[in-house]
Amino acid sequence: MGASLDKVGVVGLGTMGAGIAEVLARSGLDVVGIEVGDEALKRGRGHLESSTGRAVKRGKLSAEEQQAILDRIELSTSFGALSDCDLVVEAVPEQLALKRRVFEQLDEVCRADAVLATNTSSLSVTEIAVSTNRPEQIVGVHFFNPAPVMKLVEIIHTVLTRPEALAVVQDLVERLGKVGVTIGDRAGFIANRLLFGYLNQAAAMYDSGHATREDIDAAMKATGLPMGPLTLMDLIGLDVSLEVCEAIYRETRDRRHAPAPILRQFVTAGLLGRKTGRGFYSYDEPAAATATAEAGTVEPPPQVGVVGSGPLAVALIRGCLRAGAHVRFVAGDTEKARAVATALEQSVAGDTEKAQAVSTALEQSVEGGTELALLAECDLIIEAVAEDTSVKRSLFAAVDDVAKPGAILATTATTVPVIELAAATDRPKDVIGLHLPDPEGELTEIATTVVTATEVARRATEYVTALGKHPVRCRDRAGFIVDALRVPYLNDAVRMLESGYARRRSDRRRDAVRLRVPDRSDRRPGPDRPGPRGGGAARPLHRAPRARVRALRTAGGAVHRGPYFPLSTGSSRTTQPPEDRRVPYDAGPLRTGSSRTAPTPAYRRDRCGPIRPVRSRSPYPERHESAQEPP
Ligand SMILES: NC(=O)c1ccc[n+]([C@@H]2O[C@H](COP(=O)([O-])OP(=O)(O)OC[C@H]3O[C@@H](n4cnc5c(N)ncnc54)[C@H](O)[C@@H]3O)[C@@H](O)[C@H]2O)c1
Repeated sequence: MGASLDKVGVVGLGTMGAGIAEVLARSGLDVVGIEVGDEALKRGRGHLESSTGRAVKRGKLSAEEQQAILDRIELSTSFGALSDCDLVVEAVPEQLALKRRVFEQLDEVCRADAVLATNTSSLSVTEIAVSTNRPEQIVGVHFFNPAPVMKLVEIIHTVLTRPEALAVVQDLVERLGKVGVTIGDRAGFIANRLLFGYLNQAAAMYDSGHATREDIDAAMKATGLPMGPLTLMDLIGLDVSLEVCEAIYRETRDRRHAPAPILRQFVTAGLLGRKTGRGFYSYDEPAAATATAEAGTVEPPPQVGVVGSGPLAVALIRGCLRAGAHVRFVAGDTEKARAVATALEQSVAGDTEKAQAVSTALEQSVEGGTELALLAECDLIIEAVAEDTSVKRSLFAAVDDVAKPGAILATTATTVPVIELAAATDRPKDVIGLHLPDPEGELTEIATTVVTATEVARRATEYVTALGKHPVRCRDRAGFIVDALRVPYLNDAVRMLESGYARRRSDRRRDAVRLRVPDRSDRRPGPDRPGPRGGGAARPLHRAPRARVRALRTAGGAVHRGPYFPLSTGSSRTTQPPEDRRVPYDAGPLRTGSSRTAPTPAYRRDRCGPIRPVRSRSPYPERHESAQEPP
């Protein structure tokens, strides 16, 4: 049957239908496009002409080819025109009742052996199929937007679909040069099932006041995605997004797909995203759609203290040095301090601009050791030690004793609540979370607690900007922004794999096509992206002599392991800490190994924990104002 496919019908020539009709005609097939009335047909013709016209302007199509494509598409408002089609693709709005009506009509007019396909994003193909007298001839064919560009097509079979009917669609997808994945009939299929859990949670996160829309979008874009989740929902259409979430929620009862209240409010108010000029963003002013971080005044880089000696601490020190800050670092013992100095030295290998900057800074701006007293003059003190609550609490108590008044104390903890560490100090209003989803990247999440002072959050934002990073602000919640959205999404993918619904493809490029995740290797080198890693190896190496590293000169400070905290603070005040700050001696030495392996406190496990059938609870149940400064 696949070989005899000559004429294909498309019902509904809106965003998707027009694109699908164009793709079909481009491959040489005769196409019949059906719309609901003359006005809609005119709009459909307009979509086809402008889309192919853009291709001509870009030199991807000649004027003759454009004309040939348009000539192959017959337009009509009568379903009767579909009577001799081998296959019909339905692309009317995402409403089950409407689609069922359309399929009843198709069943009446189409040849008995014709295959009928639906482009539904989330509705049950089975429920659509049973509205016809030929359920075995019904297939789902889910193109992505824009259809002429996107490679992935999900092909959906129901329990009733005949293999021959499925083969017709599979052959067609191949003929169109698309990447087809064949799957069973589950709400949202693969891509939307994964995508909308993430998108809906981003909407809920915004709705709860956890972070601003710009910061949510900027944070996720910084992970390598082409756009942020709220911008993407505006592009898809908030009505479509609501329908998809509802369909998946109906099937799964997973609260993460229960539409965020704000989504329904937008749709009720007629704010559907780009297509109506307003959604999460307003599109009256084009600049409004661009995610922007809070500007903040450009301050000179602060004097930064870093505690820890693991890879994160080294990355932090290096980043601060590049930005021109003075850095003092404190490691758990002399050996670890030396290791930090060596790691810094190694980072100046190569002749890149960044390496040169670190090399110069190493000579002038870094000092390290084992005494917390080294941090006394720092404006910003960042803790990057083991992911262990008791170790971190002890450290914060000790740093509180040596830091100057007004210094900001920051934790890089990912699983320990910032408020727990703030409570270990006498200056909880000065404590914030600083989370770098990619230690070498620019994005820095600044988490404020219910007691963080407004002025401290503002100053922290300025400091982070001055350190050459991109600050985004959020509240002290598990996963901040990026991990809270990214980890459950990844976990869903694993769960999908484990359930046997979809297979893994090891080819990274094909995965990128399927899930719209940009392949990092595609990124072009730029001023801050000096080509592929290791590319510098062919260049002359430039190494700073060890003797030039001031850090080493001070790295031999006495290491005092007190009864309450493994680091010596060098401060007489800290030798007798207040009773309530003491922790058992066996809290163990400061560990700087991978924090990822640290046990996760139970309260942080609820959303990012291992795969389990229990439905997870949204951490963004409602918008609420509190003493905490709104981000
Ligand atoms: N928008 C997306 O990003 C996207 C992506 C993939 C799949 N889809 C799916 O594609 C389908 C269409 O979505 P869309 O975004 O193109 O919607 P749309 O509103 O842009 O287009 C729907 C078209 O169907 C026409 N129509 C309505 N009733 C009709 C009828 N009885 N007969 C003939 N035509 C009729 C409308 O006039 C309109 O032009 C939906 O099932 C949607 O879930 C959408």
